[in-house]
Amino acid sequence: MAMSAARAGAEAEVRTRLPDVAALAAALDGVDYLADPGLATAMFLAVRLPQPLLLEGEPGVGKTEAAKALARALDTPLFRLQCFEGIDAAEALYEWNHPRQLLGIRLAEARGAALDEDDLFGPDYLLRRPLLQAIEHAGPRPAVLLLDEIDRADAEFEAFTFEVLAEAAVTVPELGTIRAAHPPIVVLTSNRTRDLHDALTRRCLYHWIDYPTPERVAEIVRRRVPGSEEPLAVAAATAVTRLRSLDLVKPPGIAEVIDWVAALGVLGLFELDAAAVEASWGSVLKNRDDHELARTRGAAWLAGA
Ligand SMILES: Nc1ncnc2c1ncn2[C@@H]1O[C@H](COP(=O)(O)OP(=O)(O)O)[C@@H](O)[C@H]1O
Ligand SMILES: [Mg+2]
Repeated sequence: MAMSAARAGAEAEVRTRLPDVAALAAALDGVDYLADPGLATAMFLAVRLPQPLLLEGEPGVGKTEAAKALARALDTPLFRLQCFEGIDAAEALYEWNHPRQLLGIRLAEARGAALDEDDLFGPDYLLRRPLLQAIEHAGPRPAVLLLDEIDRADAEFEAFTFEVLAEAAVTVPELGTIRAAHPPIVVLTSNRTRDLHDALTRRCLYHWIDYPTPERVAEIVRRRVPGSEEPLAVAAATAVTRLRSLDLVKPPGIAEVIDWVAALGVLGLFELDAAAVEASWGSVLKNRDDHELARTRGAAWLAGA
């Protein structure tokens, strides 16, 4: 099938914006997302091939943020579908706005106006969910569609979303087929609570995001916490890496280092010593058992003193 002129134009514009991996890495850096070369390459291919990108990694390593940053870097909307157990098409694609339909019927009755079914199943009564929004997106560039934590949904839902994405079209029986002018750039994330289906992984590019080195985490923190100084950022990032060596229920991630450095700043503590740790445990550990485990090692151990 011939590509529309609008879509060809959009692809040319994306090519000009992102001629190579380095250009994408720089654009991501410009929106304060630091991607290592492996991740930048995977994201570049996802945009340019295009092909859905599956990002896996532990919680808090920057999977969700990667998709958000990609949308910002492309200056295009992000449509995010947060997956959960039991999620179905109505939540992903569309559903009819029943309260509004009922209201429409009541109002028509009150006015003594005629109302037929077509009126009630028209575009005004459709609740558009992220998949449909991404498909309907009018451009000028493709939207980014984030299927977040796809491992929480069941395998049937996976298969359903992939059918929709492969077609880049949605059929609403009452309205007809809605075809994407600009098929979205698709990013899926998984915390790996279960294996994903072969049918899905086969269609995707894959990238595993490792928890970064303390130096890298410190760089991220300095982007995210205004006024933070490098020594404190490095000390906090190093301490969190130390914590992650314990057998914790909820190992802290990058977000906790960011929160921690922000909290220390508000407390007026600019050095990470045992007293600073004692004052701020709750910014880093969010689980009672983890607290106890870390406290048996001690604040001084965590501070590296
Ligand atoms: N590479 C990165 N560059 C900038 N910020 C990052 C990066 N990785 C993670 N972050 C920060 O860490 C936080 C947690 O990341 P998030 O994307 O929510 O993790 P995940 O989705 O993998 O659980 C984000 O809000 C962001 O502030
Ligand atoms: Mg996430």
